[in-house]
Amino acid sequence: MTPLKATAIAHPNIAFIKYWGDVDPSQHLPANGSISMNLDALSTMTTVAFVDDLPDDQVILNGTPPDVVTRQRVGAHLDHLREWAGTDHRAQVFSRNSFPAGTGLASSASAFAALTLAAAAALDLALPKSHLSAMARLGSGSASRSIPAGFVEWAAGESHETSCAFSIAPPDHWTLCDCIAVTCTTHKVVGSTEGKARATTSPIYRARVESARAALDPCRAAIHARDLAALGALMETDAVLMHAVTMTSHPPVYYWMPTTLAVLQSALAWRAEGLPVYFTLDAGPNVHCLCEETNAAPVAERLRAIPGVKTVIVARPGPGAHLTDHHLF
Ligand code: DP6
Repeated sequence: MTPLKATAIAHPNIAFIKYWGDVDPSQHLPANGSISMNLDALSTMTTVAFVDDLPDDQVILNGTPPDVVTRQRVGAHLDHLREWAGTDHRAQVFSRNSFPAGTGLASSASAFAALTLAAAAALDLALPKSHLSAMARLGSGSASRSIPAGFVEWAAGESHETSCAFSIAPPDHWTLCDCIAVTCTTHKVVGSTEGKARATTSPIYRARVESARAALDPCRAAIHARDLAALGALMETDAVLMHAVTMTSHPPVYYWMPTTLAVLQSALAWRAEGLPVYFTLDAGPNVHCLCEETNAAPVAERLRAIPGVKTVIVARPGPGAHLTDHHLF
């Protein structure tokens, strides 16, 4: 049989209002909605082929077979799609990240968004975008936000069907830049799935969820109005609250490294001098510095001069997940 094959490209996203806690971890049903921007400079390309006589799924990530846990996570995600399509064919999966080597950057968001779109297309499932986003969410919560384009909101929802993401503005709506200061090249000690599972043990968990919920309307409005000062204030508060939750969880997780704090303090100082730049962080030590396109070069240059900053990647608002005719095998 000719394998049913498809290839998709997806971009990771940086959350302005974050996902850090589940109502139902088994389905990644989040405690609060979240808002993000896709990052054009980084991407994952994934080819999936379903073959009728394969004994098991074959997975190759960046040229090598992944560890058992990752392989199982990919297999479990393919099971959701197989169930939907009513098939038990195993799949060949080849995936490649465009992320610069040695930056310690990796993204479950772009990985599961690309895997979902490629597998759905290979299975000839004509799913609406909202459904694809919900399916991607089952693989990794933040992957739901890498399906739509540009600036994206993930509505928390109350069920699998209603917890999905949609675009609130296209990529060309705002020439916002994310200057990513890479401060550490090794993998994080505690992954976001594990760190997030501890969130409810923090005494400030509820307060952060309430604060994040309240920030959604003003964050959406700030994006529509291209108001960096308003977006920046909301984004910094949520990022620091999220990290305060990780540091007060049991057992605690400190994602910040000395260089992380140096970058945060520098951004505050530059802003006081009149350079509009605002920070956020994911579950790791790298710092995302958001600024207008016109300030990206000076911000990137200043970031590179901070001791301990290994490299700086400048990303602009990126497209949603899409199919391509170029296959990886
Ligand atoms: C800090 O989506 O990576 O990046 O659903 O367990 O795969 P899983 O978690 P994940 O968590 C994202 C955490 C974050 C914040 C965000 O992107 O909203």
